[in-house]
Amino acid sequence: RYPVICIDGPSGAGKGTVTWRLAQALGYQLLDSGALYRIVGLKAFEAGLISADVSQAIDEMAVLALTKSLDIAFVPNNESGCVDIIVNGEAVGEQVRNETVGGYASQVAVFPKVRQALLKLQQDMATRSGLVADGRDMGTVVFPDADVKVFLTASAEARAKRRVMQLVNAGQIADFETILATIKARDDRDENRATAPSKPAKDALLLDSSTLDADMVYEQIKKHCQE
Ligand code: CDP
Repeated sequence: RYPVICIDGPSGAGKGTVTWRLAQALGYQLLDSGALYRIVGLKAFEAGLISADVSQAIDEMAVLALTKSLDIAFVPNNESGCVDIIVNGEAVGEQVRNETVGGYASQVAVFPKVRQALLKLQQDMATRSGLVADGRDMGTVVFPDADVKVFLTASAEARAKRRVMQLVNAGQIADFETILATIKARDDRDENRATAPSKPAKDALLLDSSTLDADMVYEQIKKHCQE
């Protein structure tokens, strides 16, 4: 297989920016594993399998059947330098990139069978080119023998503050306390699930980005890749 760099960590730690920059610099493909869970979450919601009430149990077998029914393909996009995810013939766009869908993603991501159904698809990507993989379990489960593993984290407050800035810059109204509570709820679900919880691999570099800007994070990870 080709070289694999894993960047794991919680929402808002800056994984997206750094994985994109690394992939560009190295000429590797980018695996946005979160997008897979977001797609399954959104489709499950649309199919009526997820209720707005988070205390409602979700039918794992129904979500599994739905996951298996999806035709998911990764197609390199030479213009953006990224890999487009095509589901049932349609490119997955911005419709999965909001916090509501992030919540659905983390609700379906607790199911071991659903995770298993998405495993090979992710691993196969490393048989085609070098890979920078962004997620929660890249270094622990999907690519345990990866060449480089980083766990990028930051305090929940720092991550909420960044999210507020992003939303305000996009012209939206953002309430810090609401965003902080949403981030903490998703962290809690991701870190405490029984299968593939979000945690650093034993051989991962731990990097706290609370007081680092995107350039500093990129430089530190690049340096680590060269070591
Ligand atoms: O971009 P952000 O970090 O907010 O989220 P994401 O990486 O798109 O992931 C959305 C959700 O999918 C996470 O909260 C996890 O519940 C789940 N996920 C996962 O379980 N395993 C992965 N490798 C990636 C995402």
